[in-house]
Amino acid sequence: MAGKGLFATRTVAELRAGGDSTQQLKRTLSVVSLTAFGIGSIIGTGIFVLTGTAAANHAGPALALSFILAGFGCGLTALCYAELAAMIPVSGSAYSYAYASLGEVVAWFIGWNLVLEYTFSVATVSVGWSGYVVSLLEQLGIDLPETLTQAPFDRGPGSFSIVTTGALVNVPAVLVVAAVTAVCYIGITQSSMTNSIIVAVKIAVITLFIVVGVAYISPANWHPFIPPNTGHFGQFGWSGIFAASGVIVFAYIGFDAISTCAQEARNPNRDLPVSILSSLAICTVLYMATAVVLTGMVHYTELNVAAPVALALDKYEGLRWLGIPVKIGAIAGMTSVMIVMTVGQARIFMTMGADGLLPGWFARVHPRFKTPANGTWLTGLAAAVIGGLFPVRILGELVSIGTLLAFITVCVGVLVLRKLRPEAPRPFRVPWPWFTCIGGAVACAGMILVLPLDTWVRLVVWTVIGFLIYAFYGYRNSRLRRA
Ligand code: ALA
Repeated sequence: MAGKGLFATRTVAELRAGGDSTQQLKRTLSVVSLTAFGIGSIIGTGIFVLTGTAAANHAGPALALSFILAGFGCGLTALCYAELAAMIPVSGSAYSYAYASLGEVVAWFIGWNLVLEYTFSVATVSVGWSGYVVSLLEQLGIDLPETLTQAPFDRGPGSFSIVTTGALVNVPAVLVVAAVTAVCYIGITQSSMTNSIIVAVKIAVITLFIVVGVAYISPANWHPFIPPNTGHFGQFGWSGIFAASGVIVFAYIGFDAISTCAQEARNPNRDLPVSILSSLAICTVLYMATAVVLTGMVHYTELNVAAPVALALDKYEGLRWLGIPVKIGAIAGMTSVMIVMTVGQARIFMTMGADGLLPGWFARVHPRFKTPANGTWLTGLAAAVIGGLFPVRILGELVSIGTLLAFITVCVGVLVLRKLRPEAPRPFRVPWPWFTCIGGAVACAGMILVLPLDTWVRLVVWTVIGFLIYAFYGYRNSRLRRA
């Protein structure tokens, strides 16, 4: 332990020892299950919903370049996660790494932002899930009333205004969060098995789309590959490619969730780096191929819809048969994102509870199911309320900004820990650390800069609430300070 001020850090050994509750988790996850967890949380609303919006509004066919840019930033960050996850294999992920490197107050700030990432991701994806379910049911001849399938609030005409839409609540979004929470409450083995099956389905569906869609590409749709800028930053041209990377970085979020399962991994030192890097690599390849095929099948100006992949299939007579399986795959895919994010959030709450920054109630492990049950149901309740009330675009941008801040901390944390704790064993070491860490931090900062101003304002409000909780609870009850 170093000092007792706001920037007090915990030693790697202390973090590895963890609290009593974190020792009760079962070590059941293999490298394959962990990789499936990564893919499970990566492929979801980003590729199935946001790809179309990003192509139509920002990048055009050059969307594939935005995927490369965002993938580059996330790849460098993933290397940093791999070093820290193998060195400090505990459930708190970026929160715990910040506690070891940058001090308690930064750790709290990151932990609080991880709530934005995980809980708000569950909510965001539940809204995307609802959209695909409604569209599938429509195709099967069942029409649900809009008042029960849309968000009652939306972004207004001005940057900061919120308007009511006349809808009551997004019922499918609420129901799916309730079901996912129940699975995660029951146990990590069940969540992992359910997730692995779903991951296989969604990889199959995306691969099928790519393989079958190639034959329907019209190269004319790719011209011009980079549509000229309209005169506004972010609307096509190179600035559009950057702006699209800020939107579709949401599609990559999730590789980091693997690190929250560190205490349930059979061999964390080796398996965490391997599964973090391989899940990101697999998804990057699938995303780039999907972007190329999608913008080749449909002109980018037509892609501003809730289900762009389904639109591409509906456009061609010979591909209509694929519409229903792809929608089912997308629905399944988004379900697995919600499972992994709920699992991750509950474990971060648990670690923060064990550290005393949140009440011990969060750290309690269910005596029979051996899961952090309190954090699990609380995450589900919050996500159900948020997903039932707000639309994807507001939620998605908030998730991205919170996550990118955590990514920057992890990149900086690697360099700080190399300086502060050079002797600590590192089963995996980031290659060319100065380039990787600084490059990762700069790339993530760049993606934050292209996000809209109102998202920044929401982040500030969220941060102020977080610091009030820290001042009145965490600072006084921190185990580190009371020791
Ligand atoms: N990457 C996840 C998704 O796209 C959060 O749904």
